[in-house]
Amino acid sequence: MELTRRELIEAAVATGTLLVTGAKGEVLPLDLQETNPNAANPFLQGNFAPVYEEITADSLKIVGKLPPELNGMFVRNGPNPQLPPLGRYHWFDGDGMLHGIKIRDGKASYLNRYVRTEGWQKERAAGKALYTGLAEKPDMKKLFAGQDTFKNAANIALLWHNGKFLALWEGGTPHEIGLPDLSTKGAYNFDGGLKHAFTAHPRTDPKTGELICFGYSPGRKPYLHYSVISPQGKVAHTTPIDLPHGVMMHDFAITENYTLFMDLPLRFDMAKFSKGEGAFHYKPEIPSRFGILPRHETGDKIRWFEAPPCFVFHTLNAWEEGDEIVLVACRYDAYPDDVNFSTSGHPTNEGKGGQVRLHEWRFNPKTGATREKPLDDTVAEFPRIHPAQIGRKGRYGYASIASGRTLFDGYLKYDLLTGKSIHHRMPKGVMVGEGVFVPRPGAKAEDDGWLVGYGYDKATHKSEFHILDAQNFEAKAVARVLLPVRVPYGLHGTWLPGIV
Ligand SMILES: [Fe+2]
Repeated sequence: MELTRRELIEAAVATGTLLVTGAKGEVLPLDLQETNPNAANPFLQGNFAPVYEEITADSLKIVGKLPPELNGMFVRNGPNPQLPPLGRYHWFDGDGMLHGIKIRDGKASYLNRYVRTEGWQKERAAGKALYTGLAEKPDMKKLFAGQDTFKNAANIALLWHNGKFLALWEGGTPHEIGLPDLSTKGAYNFDGGLKHAFTAHPRTDPKTGELICFGYSPGRKPYLHYSVISPQGKVAHTTPIDLPHGVMMHDFAITENYTLFMDLPLRFDMAKFSKGEGAFHYKPEIPSRFGILPRHETGDKIRWFEAPPCFVFHTLNAWEEGDEIVLVACRYDAYPDDVNFSTSGHPTNEGKGGQVRLHEWRFNPKTGATREKPLDDTVAEFPRIHPAQIGRKGRYGYASIASGRTLFDGYLKYDLLTGKSIHHRMPKGVMVGEGVFVPRPGAKAEDDGWLVGYGYDKATHKSEFHILDAQNFEAKAVARVLLPVRVPYGLHGTWLPGIV
């Protein structure tokens, strides 16, 4: 049975799955929804729909028992547009909203706050969106003047380094966030030392305390910069890295001595972008390239290794092993249509390509050879490890897993020693995002700790924060903190030990 667009909208509104909203969060009348470019946009519906209220909720109901030694704060970032988007909305465009859970003495509280970026404040004052996003035709005047056409939404991830808590985007500078109130202090550029965009996925070396980072600018040469920041927050080394074209480079990896970059065939296309056909396009005929640079060297010392085309949002880890440098990541066999840029996320060829699984590459600088193999056949994204294993060979990795194509309904624990994975499936109807590994204070074993994250219950339209025992992974959650509100699907979180 073919449904018309209006019938689809009516059905979605009737079932409460469509929440196309106006400036104050009210659901728009049907006629307005029909003319809205985002009327059927999946990233404004269901649990992708933004929430508008900033709340603080104490003494939350807990199912199970919070571990007594778990004291700290978990904060997760994610897109949450405060106003109806200007043109077609892509999930990556929304204003950053932080969702925090404070845990102390077996009690839990929750608060959520927008990251009040300059763009957020300008749009708040105007009462309407002023910036277009990744799927929409940009403001050509701004583009030709060399000005940024995107809003730094500070919406992807978080970093805790040298006593600074930063909300990260990947096309601009970080924003400093106050703790524990999640207030926005303002843009932060490492005392003027940061001269380029800052990735959402920097790595802190667990032994040296150095912060390793990069930034890409797909429309402007040099397309890639790389920096090493001292444990005291001083930018100690910055170098450009030559790329022949602009690409989306969401993540990278480090080992004890090397930094790994991914030049994958998701390329910026100015001609298409300026026509409103999306900023990035996947070119399946172009090979992937992996660049390896000694940590403190200049960009001209990078060595590239070719591999079959693929896309990677997130790496699990990298390390040195014998003559080889090993990289494990969640590899897509093609860029996933679910978050493509030409149609603002509307799936165009459901079921074709875009499968994501744990994968291993081995690069040998002596021979120039690359070996690669899939590690597990489970659909897996949002990989995390024990923070002390960053850049070193560890045994365990964690990721979110999906029974369907796009939404996650459980977690995976992967054993790199045995090559086996075990799964934790959530109760039916509960969807999850990223699970973050939190080491137990004083733990000796790598997996002695918890996997924590937000879940969303489709039946109640509310959310929870759950804590799984990483050593008893298949068992039901140790504790579930029931939230009085919905936490929309989001991106990355971090655990702040002792911060409450
Ligand atoms: Fe990410």
